Amino acid sequence: MTARKTAGDAVVVTGAGGGIGSAIAHRLARDGWRVVATDLAGPKGAALPARALSFPLDVADRAAIATVARALADEGVGIAGLVNAAGLFQDATPFLEMDLALERRIFEVNYFGALACTRAFAPAIAAGGGGAVVNITSINETRPLPLHAYAPAKAALGAATTLMAGDLGPLGIRVNAVAPGFTLTPTLKAKIDAGLRDAGALESHAALGRMVEPDEVAAAASFLLSDDAGAITGASIPVDAGWLATSHWMNFRKRTGEKDGR
Ligand SMILES: NC(=O)c1ccc[n+]([C@@H]2O[C@H](COP(=O)([O-])OP(=O)(O)OC[C@H]3O[C@@H](n4cnc5c(N)ncnc54)[C@H](O)[C@@H]3O)[C@@H](O)[C@H]2O)c1
Repeated sequence: MTARKTAGDAVVVTGAGGGIGSAIAHRLARDGWRVVATDLAGPKGAALPARALSFPLDVADRAAIATVARALADEGVGIAGLVNAAGLFQDATPFLEMDLALERRIFEVNYFGALACTRAFAPAIAAGGGGAVVNITSINETRPLPLHAYAPAKAALGAATTLMAGDLGPLGIRVNAVAPGFTLTPTLKAKIDAGLRDAGALESHAALGRMVEPDEVAAAASFLLSDDAGAITGASIPVDAGWLATSHWMNFRKRTGEKDGR
């Protein structure tokens, strides 16, 4: 990967206009990667790091993915990595009220979109000598919250991460996941402001007593793309401020130092 970075090869980031995707794109650019930033509208302005290429890309559109892959090949851009960060959130709608069209759309973006992008860019990664794919899943990967399409889609992506690692390992491609906890992106902030998420509870249920910053998710993605993670594949790293460790402790007792009403 170091040689590929030096050669100016790129890492493709989907959902790079969003809170986490944009943080990842900027972190990879600071780390010396050429970044191909993609989102529904091609990222621009503050979302786009210096020297990055920008493409509009709907990850649910197979033809659009093929077009971007072809355009990069035509421009002679080598691809060393892919970060599947595009994602759709949902409200905590009761199961019996869920709409099948919305469930399908969430799977189409959060699950099939990541699979389709990996299938489209893996040949170029392998052709250039190998590299890495990072799927942005969620704490829902292992601990389903009442999000009846989002949670199973992220769990499926977590399972697919290990399966892809098995098939792509012989091609020199590592495949891992970063599973963010509640991360203070504009999308989560809007849900908190609308009363759809309880900020105090999200903080107090995490071992570190706080939410996650987008840059902290980006740091884990950057690590998994780097040579330092050269022997890591098929793994998932939670970046959750310890939410998975302690979110269920409320059923037993308050944690040390936890204050009433926090
Ligand atoms: N913020 C959190 O608390 C949190 C927690 C766990 C996992 N995640 C995951 O992290 C990723 C980024 O989340 P975020 O908080 O930055 O949200 P965000 O809404 O800021 O970013 C998501 C981005 O995905 C893009 N997107 C949506 N549909 C798309 C499509 N069909 N094709 C291409 N791009 C599309 C959006 O335009 C947006 O820019 C998502 O996969 C999300 O599920 C976020």
